[in-house]
Amino acid sequence: MTKEKFLRRSRIYRKIETDLLSEAAREIYNTDVFRKALKQEHHGHTSVAVHTICVAVICLRIYYFLLEHHIRLNKDNLLKCALMHDLGIIGRYSKYANDVVCCYRHPIDSITTARTVFPELKEAVIDAILHHMFPMTPIPPHHLEGYILIIADKYCASVETAYGKDKSPAAVFLRHRRHEYERRLRESGISTSKIEEDIAEKVLFI
Ligand SMILES: [Fe+2]
Ligand SMILES: [Fe+2]
Repeated sequence: MTKEKFLRRSRIYRKIETDLLSEAAREIYNTDVFRKALKQEHHGHTSVAVHTICVAVICLRIYYFLLEHHIRLNKDNLLKCALMHDLGIIGRYSKYANDVVCCYRHPIDSITTARTVFPELKEAVIDAILHHMFPMTPIPPHHLEGYILIIADKYCASVETAYGKDKSPAAVFLRHRRHEYERRLRESGISTSKIEEDIAEKVLFI
């Protein structure tokens, strides 16, 4: 990778990191359902929580790519629908009779969960979550954010199923951030414990 390309990627990753630690994102991480999502297995090799962060990373990469081309999406809506689209899956083996029922039903249950976190949820977020299984469910989303969610979700699900969580975009993102912290530590002599704390906070999700 050229130095220019590396610096550009670092710049975008820093923005994504800020978004993933935004107030809205922290509200989601701090819920009981998200803590349960860390333990709920998903796509064979990962958890629902890691998968949703993976989807958020890809959604935000697409967001910043489109922004460079003067196409502006609603970032807040995109982040919320990425982090909450699969939260309805928690407890799937006791509440759904089989995978087909899970496929149709979990988007509706995700909205119920999302409304407990944000009672004033925007219509665009509801629409994106409700139709994120398209084309497996028949109705497509009605906003651009919904299509970005579908693309990111299918991509992450494929990578996770085929290669496991260590190759997932979330893992690549967090590894990149860890290297940056280590580099900063070497350069600035910031206390090791502070760096370790920061890394632990981010690696918690992987
Ligand atoms: Fe889903
Ligand atoms: Fe998903």
